Amino acid sequence: MIVALNNKCNLGKEEFKEYMDRLNLLDTTDEMILCPSFINIPYYNSSKIKLGAQNVSNTPNGAYTGEISCEQLKSYGVEYCIIGHSERRGYQKETNEDISLKIQRLIENGIKPILCIGESKEEYETGQTLSILTTEINAALENVSSDIKKDILIAYEPIWSIGTGIIPTNEEIERILTEINRMVPECKLLYGGSANESNIDTLKKCPHINGYLLGGLSLKTDKLQIFLDKLKW
Ligand code: PGA
Repeated sequence: MIVALNNKCNLGKEEFKEYMDRLNLLDTTDEMILCPSFINIPYYNSSKIKLGAQNVSNTPNGAYTGEISCEQLKSYGVEYCIIGHSERRGYQKETNEDISLKIQRLIENGIKPILCIGESKEEYETGQTLSILTTEINAALENVSSDIKKDILIAYEPIWSIGTGIIPTNEEIERILTEINRMVPECKLLYGGSANESNIDTLKKCPHINGYLLGGLSLKTDKLQIFLDKLKW
């Protein structure tokens, strides 16, 4: 299983260094990917956890004040990058077009995208989930070859599940992931949205889930260890 940790906008320098020490003590054979906030990337230090970022600029190096490029991320050993998280689509007004450009730039630089897709509560309640996800996938991956898609992770994160403690039923998740798998069979599929040490016993019964994208739980290393233990059993 793949377990990607999204720290979001959390942890100062010293807190991150202590956190990194605790992460390195986790007992797991899962493929772990840590996506710290940009400012903590220089303090990442692990031989068993891979390094990811939470976003990237769609520009190369140059006169783009405040941006961080793929080339810069690569120079710090970043191997993965979350793209199109609903918090960026929402707060930063990122469009499907921006996301497609970022994916192109990541691919050119050999960084593996973790593409986030998901529907809002209203879209869920009005039966629009599949059409939203189809649009997001097509826009992001239309110019990507089959061979490259093998390196792309798609994280299905219903927006109404993120940070709310509410998750879809396994039947709902399986219905959606089956469809995503039909559209892009090359991509590995993650589930994200309030996945935690209590609901993992249920979630892990979904055969299409290849891994998880964890937000809140990424910061609680004791509970994260319980989550990882339960994944093993
Ligand atoms: P959550 O966040 O686990 O806190 O719900 C997941 C995410 O936003 O990637």
